[in-house]
Amino acid sequence: MLSTLPRLIGHRGAKESAPENTLASLREAARQGAAWVEVDVMLTRDRVPVLIHDDTLERTTNGAGPVPDLTLAELKALDAGSWFDTRFAGETVPTLEEALGVIRKLGLGLNLEIKPYPGQEVPTADVALELLTRLWPGGLPLLVSSFEVPCLEVARDRAPEIPRGYLLWDPPADWAAIADRIGAATLNVHQDRQTAESVAAYRATGRPVLAYTVNDAARARTLFSWGVAGLFTDAPGRLAAELAAGTPP
Ligand code: G3P
Ligand code: MG
Repeated sequence: MLSTLPRLIGHRGAKESAPENTLASLREAARQGAAWVEVDVMLTRDRVPVLIHDDTLERTTNGAGPVPDLTLAELKALDAGSWFDTRFAGETVPTLEEALGVIRKLGLGLNLEIKPYPGQEVPTADVALELLTRLWPGGLPLLVSSFEVPCLEVARDRAPEIPRGYLLWDPPADWAAIADRIGAATLNVHQDRQTAESVAAYRATGRPVLAYTVNDAARARTLFSWGVAGLFTDAPGRLAAELAAGTPP
């Protein structure tokens, strides 16, 4: 069970201020006061779990082509920071193991989003869960999430004690039955697609709702007023400050 959920979760670290899914981004989220971070994990060609969001390398590295075409050694030769700002030149795509080490040291809670390259749902979840169960310390909060139901089924079967978040964008008609089947602890929904009624329907299943990705304080207040428990944000420090400065909803 999840004992606590944060109001704000640093999305891909602190994506507004640092190159997403890098160690620098994790450190920046902590510096900004985030209690939790969310990161995305995918497999390299040699099946090493690494932090990256897109299926391809172009947007967030100086490489090109599909992520699973490269071995870890080939991926580590790429720069994952300069595209964002030259201050971050030399950042590399972190392995999940490296990221877990930094996140533990920073004392952050973690939402690990399993983001498989298409067709690699089961091995990606399998490898990520194996690492998590081996390396994640008890006592630090952890939530594993995915849009891909097969990933959540692997998580349920491999590590039933780790809470699972069911990520939804355009929910299938049977989303509630799927949430039951995978034993979802949270429903992680697209903020832009929500209304008071949709949030009420999700909460009626007894699950907390987390919404991605919210960088605007007015929208954050509205979502909280509808009963959303927590938000993924690219700007954990700025949003927290703006929420603290404003009047409650
Ligand atoms: O886990 C919340 C959010 O990260 C899901 O969407 O595409 O940003 O990974 P995406
Ligand atoms: Mg994500």
